[in-house]
Amino acid sequence: EAELYTLYKGVYVPSHLHPPQSLKYFEDFTFRPDDIVIATYPKSGTTWMQEIVPLIMSGGDPASVETLPNWDRVPWLEEHRACVLNLEQRPSPRLFSTHFHYRMMPASFFEVKPKVIYIMRNPKDVFTSSFHYYGITSFLVQPGPQSEFLEKFLNGKVMFGSWFDHVKGWLDADNNKRIMYICYEEMAMDLKGSVGRIAQFLEKPLSAEVIEKIADRCLFKNMKKNNMSNYSVVPQEFMDQTKSEFLRKGVAGDWKNQLTAAEVEYFDRFYKDKMRDVKYEFVWD
Ligand code: PPS
Repeated sequence: EAELYTLYKGVYVPSHLHPPQSLKYFEDFTFRPDDIVIATYPKSGTTWMQEIVPLIMSGGDPASVETLPNWDRVPWLEEHRACVLNLEQRPSPRLFSTHFHYRMMPASFFEVKPKVIYIMRNPKDVFTSSFHYYGITSFLVQPGPQSEFLEKFLNGKVMFGSWFDHVKGWLDADNNKRIMYICYEEMAMDLKGSVGRIAQFLEKPLSAEVIEKIADRCLFKNMKKNNMSNYSVVPQEFMDQTKSEFLRKGVAGDWKNQLTAAEVEYFDRFYKDKMRDVKYEFVWD
């Protein structure tokens, strides 16, 4: 674990993707007021939003989602690729992703206050998605038996730390007028409505037809076919999609097929305790 993960500001980050120079790059990064940042705990709908936001900003033109891999289209600012993408030269509005906690954002973020879309997903589904994902990657600690991985997940001993701390940190953000909060489950239930809401937040007026077209492109079954979004260009030695696909099931509630009754009860108790002061009304049960 010591080799695969780096402990950065109290959370594990995969060393392979986040060498010291890329963490330093993010610390020194200068935001612009019209930047748009997609912030997520991993496995909460990042890739989905990396498809939706570029399509909204282009008015439905699919050129960028058809030609650029999602990590170049909406790059993670803390990842090793960010250093070499020449982000300073990108025209506004620039689109970025981050898996960092609110408290880990760099100084410029708090001065400039760019717009943020923060996506949350039922942590039981985040756990389920993570369990499968960790098992197909060579740069993450293997999940081991499910009960052990659950213990690690609940206690934040996984990449990007605790789901609970991540969500609470972003919900408590003080510039929250510039932050749109949305749940994966809302997108799953009403994708067209969600695309419309996101477009409104981004102050991009779109016709009903364009919104419909974007929502259709962003359906799970259609995104699965997009080689620029389904991680098929990642070599098998890093991510073995013959075991489980990156775009795996794309549904809300798959935890019901994954967790035992005892694990559900344990999870619920943990959740209740950790989230007792949270007022936000999540869409999941
Ligand atoms: S990562 O590694 O943090 O970037 O992963 P992330 O993209 O946040 O999460 C991956 C899960 O999101 C699902 N996904 C979708 N669901 C529904 N519709 C669409 N279009 C979609 N795109 C991605 C993906 O399948 C992963 O969830 P699971 O439950 O594993 O299927």
